[in-house]
Amino acid sequence: MTMKRKIIMDCDPGVDDAVALAFAAAHQEAFELLAITTVSGNQSIEKVTRNALNLVDFYKLDIPVARGMAEPITRVPVYAERTHGETGLGHCVLPVSSRCAEEEHAVMYLRNILSALPGNEKITLVATGPLTNLAMLLKLFPEVKGKIREIVFMGGAACGGNITPCAEFNSYTDPEAAKIVFHSGVPLVMCGLDATMKCTLTRRQVAKLCQSGDKVAKACGDMAGFSLENTSSKYRGEISIHDVVPYMYLIHPEIFTVKPAILDVDCSEGISRGATLCDFRWWKHEEGELDSFVLMDADKSKFQEYLITALYELGEALYGKKEGLDQ
Ligand code: BDR
Ligand code: CA
Repeated sequence: MTMKRKIIMDCDPGVDDAVALAFAAAHQEAFELLAITTVSGNQSIEKVTRNALNLVDFYKLDIPVARGMAEPITRVPVYAERTHGETGLGHCVLPVSSRCAEEEHAVMYLRNILSALPGNEKITLVATGPLTNLAMLLKLFPEVKGKIREIVFMGGAACGGNITPCAEFNSYTDPEAAKIVFHSGVPLVMCGLDATMKCTLTRRQVAKLCQSGDKVAKACGDMAGFSLENTSSKYRGEISIHDVVPYMYLIHPEIFTVKPAILDVDCSEGISRGATLCDFRWWKHEEGELDSFVLMDADKSKFQEYLITALYELGEALYGKKEGLDQ
């Protein structure tokens, strides 16, 4: 029997973070979801934490939520309201959960959970927001590094950007945090725009999710539909569901092209602030240094098939079968 991978989700839900949680919730045969930690990013820390609590109930996860950093390390927050809407979840209105966030701050929560792990057990941290919480954790409590199996994160790009011509939103929002994480020595997998821009849902697929009688599929469709129609994605006719990619990679690595690289990020105040640098010159580095990887490409149709199937399966498992659903 293969052991489930223990996972903590560090996120800023956020439309695609919320779809990613659904995908992860649909794969509990592979993932043991231990907790969610929230970070300021797509919306304020209050809103993303509220969304995380509501999502935990909606996906019937029953895991703790710890509220994290309310601001990037050196800068004021930049929210992504146009993509994620005023609440952070687009057109989707979830039932309000009576759950409360943990009393402990997310950074302390992470530290406690990691340091309490028995023996040689390790946890995978999946980060789909700015890396602020994880940077604070690694700076304040470097002794937990050995308990982190790897950090698989959505952020950055080997080439190009989305919030600026050369920077991706999560790395742009807190490049200082990204730098701390990149230089921490913890094994990393960067799921950046090179792959995530291929990991889309089309307008037709989103419309079908919205029209389905499946509660989870409809909620995800309502979220993705907002981002699709309120941003320049409407001209592409498809919307990238970036934050699903780290989880998809852990379940289906075969649909991605992956390259080893040493990561860095531009923390200057110039026009390339937040740009990630991927050094692919493996021959310049010692073998032990090369335990970080970058996703360079993805099989779009497999991504779509696996994601859509997972959403319907989760909806059916949680809320019962609906007639006449197709993809
Ligand atoms: C990333 O930015 C956020 O708006 C999304 O949730 C995703 O994590 C994509 O650049
Ligand atoms: Ca996110």
